[in-house]
Amino acid sequence: MSRNPRKLVAGNWKMNGSLAANQALVQDLLAGIGQPEFDMTCDVAVCPPAPYLAQVRQLLAGSAIDLGAQDLSQHESGAFTGDVSAAMLKDFGVRYAIVGHSERRQHQGETDVHVAIKVKRALAAGITPIVCVGETLREREEGMTEFIVKRQMSAVIHLNGHCISEIVVAYEPVWAIGTGRTATPEQAQSVHAVLRAQLKAATEHAERVRILYGGSMNAANAAELLAQPDIDGGLIGGAALKAPDFLKILAASA
Ligand code: PGA
Repeated sequence: MSRNPRKLVAGNWKMNGSLAANQALVQDLLAGIGQPEFDMTCDVAVCPPAPYLAQVRQLLAGSAIDLGAQDLSQHESGAFTGDVSAAMLKDFGVRYAIVGHSERRQHQGETDVHVAIKVKRALAAGITPIVCVGETLREREEGMTEFIVKRQMSAVIHLNGHCISEIVVAYEPVWAIGTGRTATPEQAQSVHAVLRAQLKAATEHAERVRILYGGSMNAANAAELLAQPDIDGGLIGGAALKAPDFLKILAASA
């Protein structure tokens, strides 16, 4: 099975934006990718906060940019105040959903099991989960990186065995998120290779699974990271909020 030839670059807007700001950002992105000289060879998605999905869906209609969500409920439907289900996201044209971002693991107490269930809900609704894994600085310093990311992935593999080739993985070292401190291309590649090997043990289609890097990826460092053999795209936070920066990252993934 050959590698998925198209990289994926997804913008994680986190809890940022407004009707006006989203409109300006999407218009600038669409104007950028519409330029005749812009050669877009990767898949692209933006993940706005849930209340803005409908707005951004309309703004993106007919464009080459897909819509993503930042989370989804582990429950299917019912008395779960505040939750948003996979089916609801699907209703709004959502193609990808970030699952298990470290900010949710840290602040909302999401465990490996919650993440695995959410992945299952996404897949059942026809949404591609972007499953985030990554170690903290302390875990890295203690030499635990491989153990941590494998533990996080194995919960997802365990519950989603036969569908595992349908997911996207994002390796996001916690110490690199929003800190301006990026993993070196070699550090990132070595963890991506570990994850690829783990996927290979679970599915014969592991080469098809896109493993994104996230954590202070920006216009200046994207090309070098994306050139690594097992880095199949990026999950971009801060730099996804500035159209010129995000466009440069898209261009770097050619
Ligand atoms: P960052 O965030 O690019 O701002 O570091 C990445 C992420 O959290 O997905």
